[in-house]
Amino acid sequence: MYSGLVHAHSGLRWIALVLLVAAVGTGISKWQSRSQYTDGNRKLYLFTLISIHTQFIIGLILLFISPKVNFSMLSEKLYRFYSVEHTTGMLIAIALITIGYSRSKRASDATTKHRLIGIFYGLGLLLILASIPWPFRIVGAGWF
Ligand code: HEM
Ligand code: HEM
Repeated sequence: MYSGLVHAHSGLRWIALVLLVAAVGTGISKWQSRSQYTDGNRKLYLFTLISIHTQFIIGLILLFISPKVNFSMLSEKLYRFYSVEHTTGMLIAIALITIGYSRSKRASDATTKHRLIGIFYGLGLLLILASIPWPFRIVGAGWF
């Protein structure tokens, strides 16, 4: 179960990242051009939120079963990264994305809906990019 979850969590990063980049690009360009809010836009923003919430659930389980999470060995880079830095960065990013989705959903005009996605998902994307254990940063991390 552990190995399956790590692979799911690692592979799903790409789906989440592609959706996030598409959502941020759409949000910012439609905010700037003051375009309409289509059903396609709504689905893109929703599927992006779902991919992020799914990462959140899998990550939460990994937090309890991963051998790379150990709060009594925080002086070692690997344990500190997964136990503190990855978890905190992702929690803040997921909160920003959920707040952005929720506020965008409740906003009444199209430009505001796109602007909220562009800003909140954009900040979330930057934090996620900075918190992913990229193989060139963290020993033992994979690309997929
Ligand atoms: C609060 C939310 C999250 C928690 C608690 C969490 C937790 C974890 C933990 C404990 C690991 C270590 C697994 C191991 O190798 O033993 C891990 C690895 C990883 N996480 Fe997260 N995660 C979260 C969100 C995310 C998000 C949003 C992404 C990307 C969109 C992400 C991408 C990754 C990747 C790429 C790995 C490395 C997997 C590998 O080594 O191949 N995580 N996460
Ligand atoms: C402990 C885990 C989770 C927490 C704490 C959580 C939290 C939230 C919150 C606070 C919202 C509200 C956004 C709003 O104001 O509309 C939300 C929306 C949503 N979440 Fe999650 N979520 C979790 C797991 C998941 C999972 C695993 C999925 C799907 C695979 C998911 C799918 C959704 C969807 C589809 C919505 C949007 C509903 C709508 O259209 O309003 N969530 N979630």
